Amino acid sequence: MNYLTARVLQVFLCILLFPAVAYTQAIEWNEIAPGVWKGIIGDPEKFDLLEASGATPRLEGLENMEEADFPLDPEQIAASIEEGKTFLRFPLTVREQIYGFGLQFKTVHQRGQILHLHVDHYGGKDDGRTHAPVPFYVSSNGYGVFVNSARYINVYAGSAVRKDSENAPKALDRNTDKNWTSRPYSDAVEMLIPAPGIEVYVFAGPTPLDAVRRFNLFNGGGPIPPRWGLGFTQRVHKLLTAEQVLQEASDFEAKGYPLDFIGLEPGWQSKSYPNTFEWDLGRFPKPKEFVSELRKKGVRVNLWINPYPSPESPIYKPILAYTASHTVWGGVVPDFTLDTVGRVFWSHFEKEHLDIGVSGYKIDEVDGYDRYLWPDVARFPSGISAEQMRQTYGLLVQRQSDSLFRKRNERTYGLVRASNAGAVSFPYVIYNDYYNHEDFITALINSGFSGILWTPEARASQTGEEWLRRMQTVVFSPMAMINAWSSGTKPWSFEEVAEEVRQLALLRMSMMPYWYSEFAKYHFEGTPPFRAMDLEDGFHADQQRSTLSDEEADLELNPYAEAVKKEVKDQYMAGEYLLVAPIFTGQTSRKVILPVGNWYDFYTGVYAGNGEVIDVSPELGQIPVFVKDGGIIPMMEPRLHAPKVGETVNLEIRHYGDKPAVYQLYDDDGESFDYEQGHYSWREIKVEYQKNGKLKGSISKVEKGKPNSVGNVVWRFMTMKENDDN
Ligand code: GAL
Repeated sequence: MNYLTARVLQVFLCILLFPAVAYTQAIEWNEIAPGVWKGIIGDPEKFDLLEASGATPRLEGLENMEEADFPLDPEQIAASIEEGKTFLRFPLTVREQIYGFGLQFKTVHQRGQILHLHVDHYGGKDDGRTHAPVPFYVSSNGYGVFVNSARYINVYAGSAVRKDSENAPKALDRNTDKNWTSRPYSDAVEMLIPAPGIEVYVFAGPTPLDAVRRFNLFNGGGPIPPRWGLGFTQRVHKLLTAEQVLQEASDFEAKGYPLDFIGLEPGWQSKSYPNTFEWDLGRFPKPKEFVSELRKKGVRVNLWINPYPSPESPIYKPILAYTASHTVWGGVVPDFTLDTVGRVFWSHFEKEHLDIGVSGYKIDEVDGYDRYLWPDVARFPSGISAEQMRQTYGLLVQRQSDSLFRKRNERTYGLVRASNAGAVSFPYVIYNDYYNHEDFITALINSGFSGILWTPEARASQTGEEWLRRMQTVVFSPMAMINAWSSGTKPWSFEEVAEEVRQLALLRMSMMPYWYSEFAKYHFEGTPPFRAMDLEDGFHADQQRSTLSDEEADLELNPYAEAVKKEVKDQYMAGEYLLVAPIFTGQTSRKVILPVGNWYDFYTGVYAGNGEVIDVSPELGQIPVFVKDGGIIPMMEPRLHAPKVGETVNLEIRHYGDKPAVYQLYDDDGESFDYEQGHYSWREIKVEYQKNGKLKGSISKVEKGKPNSVGNVVWRFMTMKENDDN
């Protein structure tokens, strides 16, 4: 048979065997933990996101969740391997919305999006190139899907229409039919993964939040930061000297601004970009004394790095054989999958930094951009491809740096610019160089769908108003941070709002018992501490429909519009009870959507509404925050530093609304991993009606031998004020 005949025969056979879409692989679903199923398609690669991160499920947490049936019709899930690539399809129903796919900045609703999931510095467009392009999505129908692949994945998230679709839209005449649309209805999420096989996981609900919780628990549960990590942090100007940094810490103290850790930017090193990872002895002549001097002031040190050693670094020579073919700014690129790299690279960090008391790192530039990072043609000595390295480098540096602190039984809380699925349990918060305040909030909302943390850091501002507005969201986020590496801005830099900013920072500190308990719930139960309204009970389609025009909401007129109902990307849930509705520069009022149930003003306890859209116009100093009925917020006396191990603090426990309520308050030593051995406690806070019709609060006793940081307790009934017992 000559070539031509063979080719004709091949094409003919293809047409015969694969008439429309060649989705041919049957997937066997195995329930590997309650409500979590694994399916294998083809021959998955050994190196994937879970392998890189080493994530291990928190089985105990998963077992505490309800049993559930497989949430989809398996017949509707289709896969096939062609040309060494995996094609994957999951169904979508008409009213279904999907969320996730990592750290997006502009959109919360992902249905209709086309994404090329690729770790990168965010470039201003939600196209899948982002710091954490997590291949996990969650559906409003209450299930989640995760593709465990370290490849660049193309996602058509309800944007493509197949010939054989049972719900294919009718072809309409654009000339005359007003229902014609350029984006016709699609009934599937389709993905193309450039690998000859993959592992796919499906997570049950019943609610979308349950699916997210199962995903988080499957990845090990969220981190519990040390208490100091939830305090306030200032990243100082990159060229400050030890003396100037100490002075800055003293200024915080003298002016009454809280401060728990200081971040040193590139100038702490003798050379950076590429890095020596050695102290600059001109600016920091005695690093050890400097770190302990700061520590005496109650302030810890976090060091900026990017992980690319300079030829002048002592790490360079011993590591050279274990680095990639290409360089980054003249520094080498360690192959972090190799054990030797771990030994040489990280032991330098241990000796030079951790041993003298450094408490954490900011790991920069592990994301992109393409023009300075290693290219896809780079080779790594382990044989792992440049593409897979790109998708997992952030995971590897988080995992390995975290383990340095684990070894010493010390918790860390740091920053990283790239992440992915598998990172849920790592104590790292993502940040970037982009600076649109609104988009920072959308990113914060989206982080909650994907098991990552995000900080809307404040760097600089044009006006006092902008500074204050940014600081208002900084304190309602996973890391309350000013990043003044370039601007040198201090919290008090804008005199006209300096006192308001101080009050905000103190509010952050007072709320520490609440934030700490909410992070513990992230760890033990998988509930993200910062999350979208879409994950909140009572914030359902009917609610949102009130923000749509009749035409937009009319399914008959426009099924596609229904599927992508208007998104809410400027208000979010913070912990169990709080709804935060930021105001941005230039605004004096805004609309807030309150889910079904009674909601109360955080500052006054006054009733705000129930299942409705309200208008608020607070004074400049206030960010609108609302509390769910029966909300219990444990607060401590405002202070400048987080409580230390063994310290007790007095609590003011606030109750909102008129509903009796229960809250679980978490406690442990605040700094070590002893909680993993059971050295922690949950104290039950209860607010109940007494016979005389008054509300009364109580807190359960600490079990013998368990840690206790609670001193005296006073109760404040914010709505039912006559019940206050103090
Ligand atoms: C950037 C980083 C900034 C700052 C700066 C220092 O890449 O995003 O936050 O650390 O480097 O050079």
